[in-house]
Amino acid sequence: MGGRLGNYEDSPVELNDFYLIEDLTTADRAERLERIQSFAAEAVDRLRHVVRSGLETHTHLLILTHIPPFKGAAWHEGEPSNDDWLPFFSCEAVGGVLTEVAGEHPSANLTVLCGHTHGEGVREVLPNLTVVTGGAVYGRPAIVDLINIA
Ligand SMILES: [Fe+2]
Repeated sequence: MGGRLGNYEDSPVELNDFYLIEDLTTADRAERLERIQSFAAEAVDRLRHVVRSGLETHTHLLILTHIPPFKGAAWHEGEPSNDDWLPFFSCEAVGGVLTEVAGEHPSANLTVLCGHTHGEGVREVLPNLTVVTGGAVYGRPAIVDLINIA
């Protein structure tokens, strides 16, 4: 989650993550946002390096993220997430890096596999950048059939 998309300030959303993930446990919403954005900034620097390195030797990369990296890939109950959920269901910073690197390598393909929102869907962000968001039901682990959906 990146806190940049949607409306963090007015969102009534309280995820279990805020209580169960030690790095996110704070009663101060501004401090939580600062932590989330700090983690995202750290992650994108590493991601940019790893994806560029991967494309030096491969033409198709599978990129696994927990959080959907684009607004349109943050599916929730069959629809893209609304402004209340987007701050916690997407990471714009990661999406920016993937868009940047996909643009640098138009003949390569990037496929992102993610989850987190429990909703499922496929979003073609660019002709060479597709995001597959796997659905989930608590207590019912399942396997996503990538051959037939991506
Ligand atoms: Fe999650």
